[in-house]
Amino acid sequence: MILEAPRSIVFFSGKGGTGKTTTVVNLGAAIALLGKRVILLDGDLLCPSLDIMLKLKPQAGRDFKSVLMGRAEMSDVIVDVNVEGAKKPLGVVPAGHALKEFFGSKPVYSEEGGKRAVEAFQDLFKISDLVLIDAPAGLESAAQKSLSFANEAIIVCHPTKTAIVDALKGYKVAEFYKTPVRGAILNNVTEAAAISAEAASVILRTPVLASIPYDETIMRAEKEHKLVVVDYPKSPSARLIKMVAETIEKGKIPGELKPFQRPKLDSYLEKIRRTVEGS
Ligand SMILES: Nc1ncnc2c1ncn2[C@@H]1O[C@H](COP(=O)(O)OP(=O)(O)OP(=O)(O)O)[C@@H](O)[C@H]1O
Ligand SMILES: [Mg+2]
Repeated sequence: MILEAPRSIVFFSGKGGTGKTTTVVNLGAAIALLGKRVILLDGDLLCPSLDIMLKLKPQAGRDFKSVLMGRAEMSDVIVDVNVEGAKKPLGVVPAGHALKEFFGSKPVYSEEGGKRAVEAFQDLFKISDLVLIDAPAGLESAAQKSLSFANEAIIVCHPTKTAIVDALKGYKVAEFYKTPVRGAILNNVTEAAAISAEAASVILRTPVLASIPYDETIMRAEKEHKLVVVDYPKSPSARLIKMVAETIEKGKIPGELKPFQRPKLDSYLEKIRRTVEGS
């Protein structure tokens, strides 16, 4: 499968806490290390975390929410982060932590907000090679907006039954918005995992780009506001994230997908899968 000139890719999961933000910051840095100008956009308007992971200084009014509310221009809210070894900095558009907009009468994603988001994306495309969007958990308003604005989508999923069902629902939302799902990253994989890569690939109808193990280096890097791909490049998670970065940067998913024997899903999971699929 060819990823033609990826311009904006949303990382979603349905279920919370599967590693979307961790994946987005590390993939962004890894692609920056390959020489690209990458911009990360925090699509999580209520509980954003890209800025916290990267230890960005909070700057009131200079965030994606302010752009959506018509109070700031996209060009004013991009924060450039230097990635050691990369020629071009990693751009970050934080979503902002102020909550007052959510208690107001006007929704942040009003009709005008949606139009402003479309314009804001055009602004980002002009100055970058690739935009990576960190979607919020769940599949409601802001998650749906993130899925609808991106050109392509990648699932970040835990290998558990609940996570795979939520990811499949996310797949259906992406399908509704005609955003092609290019692959899935299985994260926090352990030997006891309930869902194999083969099963995930069949249920989600998409190739598994990597199975990233549970890796304490990721926790350590998060504590230190570091990036595994920069500061712990030999860790198992960093190696796999760099491999996915190359896949995205080259615009290709390398090699042929192994022709999987359709794995037998347990009958309970199969019933839920059919319900989600409406089959
Ligand atoms: N492979 C891994 N091994 C160990 N810990 C991990 C791994 N991937 C992510 N984590 C940890 O899991 C936690 C959740 O990760 P993260 O915040 O990236 O998830 P998320 O999907 O963005 O969450 P949310 O849905 O709340 O936005 C973090 O503390 C992160 O350090
Ligand atoms: Mg997150």
